[in-house]
Amino acid sequence: MQHIPPARWISAAVTALLLAAVRLPAGAADAAPAHLANVTILATGGTIAGTGASSTTTIGYTSATVGVQSLIQAVPELAKVAHVSGEQVMQIASESMDNAHWLTLAKRVNALLAQDNVDGIVITHGTDTLEETAYFLDLVVKSRKPVVLVGAMRPSTALSADGPINLYNAVLLAASPEAVGKGVLVAMNDQIHAAREVSKTNTSTPDTFKTTELGMLGYIQGNHPFFYRQSTRKNTADTVFDISRLDALPQVDIVYGYANMQPTALNALVAAGAKGIIHAGVGDGSLAAPMVPALTAARQQGVVIVRASRVGQGIVARNGEANDDALDFVVADTLNAQKARILLMLALTKTADSKEIQRMFYTY
Ligand code: DGL
Repeated sequence: MQHIPPARWISAAVTALLLAAVRLPAGAADAAPAHLANVTILATGGTIAGTGASSTTTIGYTSATVGVQSLIQAVPELAKVAHVSGEQVMQIASESMDNAHWLTLAKRVNALLAQDNVDGIVITHGTDTLEETAYFLDLVVKSRKPVVLVGAMRPSTALSADGPINLYNAVLLAASPEAVGKGVLVAMNDQIHAAREVSKTNTSTPDTFKTTELGMLGYIQGNHPFFYRQSTRKNTADTVFDISRLDALPQVDIVYGYANMQPTALNALVAAGAKGIIHAGVGDGSLAAPMVPALTAARQQGVVIVRASRVGQGIVARNGEANDDALDFVVADTLNAQKARILLMLALTKTADSKEIQRMFYTY
């Protein structure tokens, strides 16, 4: 038998005890699970697929240039945590994401998750509208299997690019049993966020995604996801929304509140055919005096009005800053304006009844 010096025996024993103490089996950082989950990466573009002129280019780079197979090949460690396959669903900077892109992506997600040989999905995405795509999918994915969105704040060519580790963590999360039934998730910067509440909070730093007040769901650390909470609102398999037969979504637009606000933009959007308006008011969704008659007229034309807030956190409550009962308006509860737009679009595929839509805003 090979002679092993006592010091190495002691070292190995101490290592094993320490690893056992931190709940990780010996060698967990490198061991591949006996059964590797099948995870499909759907690539849409963004900075995670971006390239810059030099390794120090972290702004002014080109988004959406690197293909999904290159993203996968750049992180060979993915093979330790899942059987990975990739599809390039689109290749765009996410500021140009639109309803048609969302319907294409959601239909592909649902088709894949209906397959027994797909255990989870990762979507690589630009960070500018990542939170919106995540929430849209949270409302229309018809499966409890993990769907994880991931991006990067630095292009793949940059020093300390965050894309590779973010992608590794996202695949690890999508392959984990802990992520089943948690709704659509966002994995960025070693953190796990719920699609409903996460927002991009900084224009350029890697820690930009935050769930400021309601709290992120957990962390990814030492090759494991750790959940400490989950969203209380219905999502994915528990929603009533079905996009399988839709080729378009109702037009819903947002008007942004500010001092000196006038109804010019609102009137133009209604004239252009908006079926719903999100009014992102100042404070608790307050309505400037010039807006009330214009909003009332729009409501009388059948446009559904949702009172939201530009503030970003907190509850917009019924009959607070406006008499919603009398005006027949809906309130956004805690959804920010861009997410309220998504829920109203989908609500309008089911009903135009403002009371039923209000119930949906208290449910999802
Ligand atoms: N053009 C932005 C986008 O695709 C870049 C931001 C990013 O992906 O981090 O969302």
